[in-house]
Amino acid sequence: MEQKTKIRGKVYYVGVNDRTKHLFEGLWPLPYGVSYNSYLIDDEKIALVDTVDICYFEVFLHKIKSIIGNRPIDYLIINHMEPDHSGSLSLIKQHYPNITIVGNKQTFGMVEGFYGVKGEQLLITNGDPLDLGYHKLRFYLTPMVHWPETMMTFDETEGILFSGDGFGAFGTLDGGFIDSRMNTDKFWEEMIRYYSNIVGKYGSAVQKALQKLSSLPITTICSTHGPVWTEQKERVIDIYDRLSRYEGEEGVVIVYGTMYGNTEQMAEAIALEISNQGIKNVVLHNVNKSHPSYIIADIFKYRGLIIGSATYSNQLYPEVESLLSKILIRDMKKRYLGYFGSFCWSSAALRCMSSFAEKSKFELVGIPVDMKISMNEQTYEDCASLGSAMAKRLKLDR
Ligand code: FEO
Repeated sequence: MEQKTKIRGKVYYVGVNDRTKHLFEGLWPLPYGVSYNSYLIDDEKIALVDTVDICYFEVFLHKIKSIIGNRPIDYLIINHMEPDHSGSLSLIKQHYPNITIVGNKQTFGMVEGFYGVKGEQLLITNGDPLDLGYHKLRFYLTPMVHWPETMMTFDETEGILFSGDGFGAFGTLDGGFIDSRMNTDKFWEEMIRYYSNIVGKYGSAVQKALQKLSSLPITTICSTHGPVWTEQKERVIDIYDRLSRYEGEEGVVIVYGTMYGNTEQMAEAIALEISNQGIKNVVLHNVNKSHPSYIIADIFKYRGLIIGSATYSNQLYPEVESLLSKILIRDMKKRYLGYFGSFCWSSAALRCMSSFAEKSKFELVGIPVDMKISMNEQTYEDCASLGSAMAKRLKLDR
């Protein structure tokens, strides 16, 4: 059993898969499930790196014991305190009462606050080492990726980076857990959706972390979610680097709120023109159908964004309003913005959208289009002009 879960050196995978939960953090759909990864270093001193969601404690403990039997664990290294990883902390402490919890000054208040756990602690600061025997560890504080206590642990002996949520992705590990032994296709889109929704607000913190790690000779990335990355680690680092710099690809997301389909026809007309002008990546999202996590992921992916809303109760369409707030919260940058609205008897959506445009600080493209009731010849022309302006702006970057 233990040889099958070995990563390299004396490091073993002891994580679990969640195919039960519908919503991660109560918010984000999990069509492919999610893994909670934990790692065991069976050295002269035994260390466990993070734990798993409490629902999976029995499976987790069985995996640990299949490697170390009844020997005690010396250290529990806490890279991240969010309960999907720290959930089994108090049960681990009950089974291994002499374990020393390793964390930074932000960690221990959360350990006590969430679980009431005290006892043996090793307080580390940035750059501190921990010698396990064969494996020589060093700690790097990476605050706000995406909580204040987040840190990463680097194994200098084998070049393994235990990165916490950093470089994570949604999706269970079906069979293999190392990228070289599995089909990783499903993880790439789920990595963007994971990053943009969970970590997306903290781009500058991620950039600082990447700089801190840039000189390390990393062979293997052991994140808390998704595959262990070896041969595809450069692609993973590149995705996190681009997303945290808010670098989008050439393409446009058109997202709209519609009641009876008239506002949707504006979106279709805009999209047709963008496509006619040679932009291939055009994605339309109806806010009533697409979960916001997929819309946010696509907004992180592409530089162009066009938002449309029907007027509803003299305001924005409610789901559009909710999406705009999600965009502002993530402090997104480097996007080209166009917008359009519709009304039956009194125009309000366009006014609300202009206030969002100001707050977003996005580069405004084209002339906003307002439509009374339904499409007419003029509206088709105005929508085409907006689409054309967006396509031209994107092509300027070529
Ligand atoms: Fe996977 Fe921030 O917890």
